[in-house]
Amino acid sequence: MVHFITSNAHKFAEVKKLTDIPLVQMNLPYPEIQADTLQEVAEYGAEYCYERVGEPCFVEDSGLFCDALLGFPGPYSNYVDRTLGCDGILRLVSQNRKAHFTSVIAYHDGSKVNLFMGEVGGTLTETKKGEKGFGFDPIFVPEGETRTFAEMETEEKNLYSHRGKAFTAFISYLNQVR
Ligand code: IMP
Repeated sequence: MVHFITSNAHKFAEVKKLTDIPLVQMNLPYPEIQADTLQEVAEYGAEYCYERVGEPCFVEDSGLFCDALLGFPGPYSNYVDRTLGCDGILRLVSQNRKAHFTSVIAYHDGSKVNLFMGEVGGTLTETKKGEKGFGFDPIFVPEGETRTFAEMETEEKNLYSHRGKAFTAFISYLNQVR
């Protein structure tokens, strides 16, 4: 049994579609430290959670990196989503619509933290499209597609997404070591 420490039901639903390994969602609040990289944020979170859960567990930290904003909001995406939201981001990126999402999974196996990463490049739309998903899904079209993540079913989003890639790498690691 592996615990995914997250309060985000969308993230849990996405990773559940990718594996038969028994996963348990645990809504344990943990500090998201202010740092320049997702890796640092996730690593700190995994250490913090393992100390409390006492069993193998992982956290996932992700962010949207806009070329026009030199990578902002990146590790500050959660705050920016809650303040500026999709409309606020669209107002800021009119000159250059390229962006990418990155996901970092930090898994504490009981003795150390292991990191897994996934990334997807794409384009920000001019207006929001689609109702599915969460966060910036309605404004992000992954490379090779014409639809936003919010217009896709979870399984389709997983084929392209940063989280789908990070989680696939994590699962293949788990399958090797178990
Ligand atoms: P955190 O990983 O929970 O800190 O989330 C960072 C923020 O990035 C989220 O609140 C979303 O706004 C955004 N984000 C991360 N992953 C996704 C995604 O798959 N779709 C849309 N927005 C995302």
